[in-house]
Amino acid sequence: MSVPTRRPVLVTGGAGFIGGNLVRLLRRERPRWRVVNLDKLTYAGNLESLSDLREDPGHVFVRGDIANAELLEHLLRRHAVDAVLNLAAESHVDRSILGPGIFVETNVGGTQALLEAARQAGVRRFVQISTDEVYGSLGAEGRFSETSPVKPSSPYSASKAAADFIALSYHHTYQLEVVVTRCSNNYGPYQFPEKLIPLMIANALEGKKLPVYGDGRQVRDWIHVEDHCAGLLAALERGTAGEVYNFGSDNEWANIDIVREILRLMGKGESLIEHVRDRPGHDRRYAIDARKAREALGWQPRIPFAHGLSDTVAWYDKNRPWWERVRSGEYRAYYEKNYGAR
Ligand code: NAD
Ligand code: DAU
Repeated sequence: MSVPTRRPVLVTGGAGFIGGNLVRLLRRERPRWRVVNLDKLTYAGNLESLSDLREDPGHVFVRGDIANAELLEHLLRRHAVDAVLNLAAESHVDRSILGPGIFVETNVGGTQALLEAARQAGVRRFVQISTDEVYGSLGAEGRFSETSPVKPSSPYSASKAAADFIALSYHHTYQLEVVVTRCSNNYGPYQFPEKLIPLMIANALEGKKLPVYGDGRQVRDWIHVEDHCAGLLAALERGTAGEVYNFGSDNEWANIDIVREILRLMGKGESLIEHVRDRPGHDRRYAIDARKAREALGWQPRIPFAHGLSDTVAWYDKNRPWWERVRSGEYRAYYEKNYGAR
């Protein structure tokens, strides 16, 4: 394996779903870059997801909080970090409804602490990984573009919107090269089984009920995590400072149809579906217009949903020990709290 020679990039949240996939993609696609991975290892962070990188000299894992200014100062200077990709966050909408405080602490306070440390340490570029949820909810028509109004609905999306604006203010005020990316719903390997697709696959594998919120006609625009990560690399390398880029795959599905498709792929009957109480304030529809990223970054999604979804079902089937271990402990308490009363 080649020895990294370029100034390192710092990936935060690299033990989570997208962060872990991104670290792997960076090591594969840019083998001369050292990747420093800072993660607090909350319930969602899992070093098992990175076990293939254990012997890799180009990957340095550090356990810590993005809100810890002292640690950040030390880390950024010690490694002479060139660029930051900030994925560390509380990421689950339902958890933000049960307890919003930590979402503000990490997603808003943590992002600001990281921006400030990056500015102080002379980091060149800062990619803030955000979400299409900052735009709020759509009716039956239209798609979100980068100029759509920011109108978040949940404590999660409000905290992400706040972080976007703070990040952009660091470009406007201090000329830090900030790029903000907003992606639609990701799916793929190593996603925590609290999110729709892995939850439904894992429940079906265990013969449990599949809890569909409300009428299940809410629409999400699904993209494979590898395509999102390729977009993040493009934004890091080719994004214009101060700009926002949407990523999406033109792949809208009603939740109930996805659940039926998962059951079909698994050869299971629809009697497992159970309609439960709707999510409070549930956004009805998301859809992304990603033309700007396609044109300005030369990026495009490559994984067709039919392949990506069946590969994902196969991955969860094959990697049962990974999600079974994840589902023990803290997750069990959360599941009872969120679904117990529905
Ligand atoms: P995830 O919950 O799987 O992972 C988040 C990671 O951040 C975990 O490893 C966790 O330990 C870490 N973390 C949490 N708080 C931290 C802190 N204070 N300091 C350091 N590390 C901390 O989330 P994900 O789905 O991989 O999402 C990653 C990022 O992408 C988030 O910023 C999210 O808002 C954004 N995003 C997610 C999606 C999606 O569909 N999952 C879509 C668009 C954008
Ligand atoms: O759009 C990007 C966002 O996608 C990211 O910013 C978030 O981090 C990510 O969690 C995701 O948010 P959603 O709320 O859209 O994802 P989730 O998988 O939680 O839910 C997808 C849809 O499925 C949503 O309409 C709610 C519904 N749902 C979800 C769960 C967990 C159910 O019907 N039943 C469930 O048990």
